[in-house]
Amino acid sequence: MTISQEKHPLDTKLETLATETVEVKLLVNGQEHTLEIEPWVTLLDALRERLNLTGSKKGCDHGQCGACTVLVNGERINSCLTLAIMQEGTEITTIEGLAHGDELHPMQAAFINYDGFQCGYCTSGQICSAVALLNEVAAGRLSIVTENIADMTAPIELSDEEIRERMSANICRCGAYPNIVAAIREVYETRL
Ligand code: FES
Ligand code: FES
Repeated sequence: MTISQEKHPLDTKLETLATETVEVKLLVNGQEHTLEIEPWVTLLDALRERLNLTGSKKGCDHGQCGACTVLVNGERINSCLTLAIMQEGTEITTIEGLAHGDELHPMQAAFINYDGFQCGYCTSGQICSAVALLNEVAAGRLSIVTENIADMTAPIELSDEEIRERMSANICRCGAYPNIVAAIREVYETRL
């Protein structure tokens, strides 16, 4: 018996689909970009490889470390888990878009003041995540450790336990966690 060397038509079709590109418009840090990319390119790769916004980091590429966290319409997401094409029409903010010129975002300044990093690889994801965290708390979103959930109108007390729980999707291999919590706490208390 011989095995046919001919390609199955489905293989040919898949190969074509894999190399075909599409036009994708992305609004990143207030600037519109038009990219010609394959539909399977992730937002993270589009940001890093096509737009040269390398602040967002690739750690696991599987949604498990948080190094790639960016803001989409103000919500934090893992940019390695979404396709760029899915983010047309949204407002994307990366770590590069948080500062206003030379003026750092308060969360960036707090991470510096509190030594909230060592190697820095996780830091952009930590900061984007922390910015979204404070918005979530301000909007009254509960977490698994929120006390007094029976009273939905009561303001959320952002305890250290709350911060740790809400930041638990952002891993820091250097173990800068206590300082990260302190930095977030400072920005939270300054806003009160
Ligand atoms: S690189 Fe996206 S979660 Fe790790
Ligand atoms: S500062 Fe090194 S991984 Fe977080």
